[in-house]
Amino acid sequence: MADYSATRDRVEHYFDKSATKVWDRLTSDAPVSRIRQTVREGRDRMRATMLGRLPADLRGCRVLDAGCGTGAMTEELARRGADVVAVDISPQLIGIAQKRLPAPLARHVTFAAGDMTDPSHGRFDFVMAMDSLIYYSAADIGAVLGRLGSRTRGGVVFTVAPRTPFLMAFFTLGKLFPRADRSPTMIPHAMEQIAPHAPGRLARIGRVTRGFYISECLEYRP
Ligand SMILES: C[S@@+](CC[C@H](N)C(=O)[O-])C[C@H]1O[C@@H](n2cnc3c(N)ncnc32)[C@H](O)[C@@H]1O
Repeated sequence: MADYSATRDRVEHYFDKSATKVWDRLTSDAPVSRIRQTVREGRDRMRATMLGRLPADLRGCRVLDAGCGTGAMTEELARRGADVVAVDISPQLIGIAQKRLPAPLARHVTFAAGDMTDPSHGRFDFVMAMDSLIYYSAADIGAVLGRLGSRTRGGVVFTVAPRTPFLMAFFTLGKLFPRADRSPTMIPHAMEQIAPHAPGRLARIGRVTRGFYISECLEYRP
């Protein structure tokens, strides 16, 4: 757990202080560089891939958007009728997500700033964790899946950074030349590395590669 809280603190500092504006813009409709545009497109594709794992009609379902950021997934889940619990460690991003959510959907969503694994959030039918576990070790991801899975009836749909040559080179360079600031490092994983730490079944759902965005969707069932 020491690793988990240390990573979470870095993630919080990054999203709540250094990268809030960049993230706000990337996840908006505002014009961005060509590279960031590919990331935006890749992320749209990944969100659709993840949503494809859930029933189209989510009325009566309680869904956790774990690490909701500025709330794009939260909005889609609420549009399908889910009761969404949208949690993020960054209070600033929660504030942006709240402002962005169209008013008619507000009754479907409960926002909370804090840890996604906090048991006080209750039980769920499904959990979505898009790009929110990409900074954690395999052991930490396994522990998070165990904690969330024990309170979830259906699947935990989440993403990891896959071990592609590009992402591995990026990761290795980051280790050789660590940045002086407190930004978190993305850690690429293969599903097989996480499986021994997760007390359930893992399945590979699909990979999205679009410019600088490379992400793999996995599903966990306890
Ligand atoms: C790369 S962003 C993705 C945000 C959102 N899921 C999306 O796809 O737009 C990762 C998010 O996960 C949140 N996060 C990471 N670890 C968390 C934790 N342990 N509890 C709550 N939020 C967390 C970060 O604050 C950040 O907003």
